[in-house]
Amino acid sequence: KVSSAAPAPAPAAGDTIWIGHVGSMSGNDAAFGQATDNGAKLAISEQNAKNGIKGKKVALKTLDDQGKPEEAAVAASRLITQDHVSVLIGEVASSRSLAMAPIADQNLLPMISEGSTNPRVTKDGDKTRPYVFRVCYIEPFQGTVMAKFVRENLKLTKVAILRDVGNDYAVGLAQYFKTTFQKLGGEIILEQSFKSGETDFKAQLTAIKGKNPDLIYLPGYYGEVALIARQARELGMKQPFAGGDGWDAAPLYQIAKGALDGSYFSTHFSTEDPSPVVQDFIAKYSKTYGNTPEVLAALGYDAAKVAIDALERAKELTGPSIREAMEQTKDFKTVTGSITIDADHNPVKSSMVLTVKENKPKYVATVDP
Ligand code: PHE
Repeated sequence: KVSSAAPAPAPAAGDTIWIGHVGSMSGNDAAFGQATDNGAKLAISEQNAKNGIKGKKVALKTLDDQGKPEEAAVAASRLITQDHVSVLIGEVASSRSLAMAPIADQNLLPMISEGSTNPRVTKDGDKTRPYVFRVCYIEPFQGTVMAKFVRENLKLTKVAILRDVGNDYAVGLAQYFKTTFQKLGGEIILEQSFKSGETDFKAQLTAIKGKNPDLIYLPGYYGEVALIARQARELGMKQPFAGGDGWDAAPLYQIAKGALDGSYFSTHFSTEDPSPVVQDFIAKYSKTYGNTPEVLAALGYDAAKVAIDALERAKELTGPSIREAMEQTKDFKTVTGSITIDADHNPVKSSMVLTVKENKPKYVATVDP
């Protein structure tokens, strides 16, 4: 009647499962890293309240990359080899995820990006990177969403592009926007560039002003975007701007001081979304942190949730086993949508278009793929 030998105990791996987070906790894009970290921490504390994973506690170890790709690579290596994390969350920025991706693959350690939309993050040439995943849509879709919106909803024809050329995300987005906009009969009358960290954009704006476009497409991150809008107003330019998710952080409004009113951007999340999942998340997050979650708090929460779900389903706590579970993520309900990982390790999700009104984001539309 006594059962035979009990199953062999799991290898002694301690009583904690570590999740690593690589994020811009300081530097130019600090708002991205901080919001993401808060979102991820919330998901992890909820999981610990439900007895953790496989009977172990879950903990987050965050390393700051200061917004630099080289530092993101160093942080990823350190988390894998010294801290023995089971999975990596990060990075938000495509340029930094691109620096981490080969490290994840070489170490057979899954990483999941919260916000990187550049297709190359999960795909190296025509080969899907085995250990790299994301919880957001990709740029070919995001660029198309705004090109269509500008052409078909706003019915504008002449557009100038001003993009951050030091940023893989902005370069990609500009290209996809341009292709679709031209296909829809629109005209790109001028292309100008800047680099993140710069503060004076008057030369580029003066050139654009001379061409009098209907709108300026401005893919970049919130810091430069807000300064550019202010300088455009100082030059007497009245045109609206349009851009992508890189705009979407609270300091955008603090710096722009109204200069972006009447402009539009595509993103992944709106606090005005009435769905119970979103409203529950907003309530929990506000209670924990005392402020309303930004898009990257939602995506950070979702990335951690997907990682936790894969850890729970993984047969063993090894990179290859967790990777396999992550690859099988299907209809997983998250705050920013339902996630099914496709062959290129991307989910298929909707995009939202927001406008800026009285220096605040305002929901305009949801665009399905
Ligand atoms: N999509 C941006 C990138 O790839 C990152 C980002 C996502 C920024 C979401 C803000 C909000 O670099």
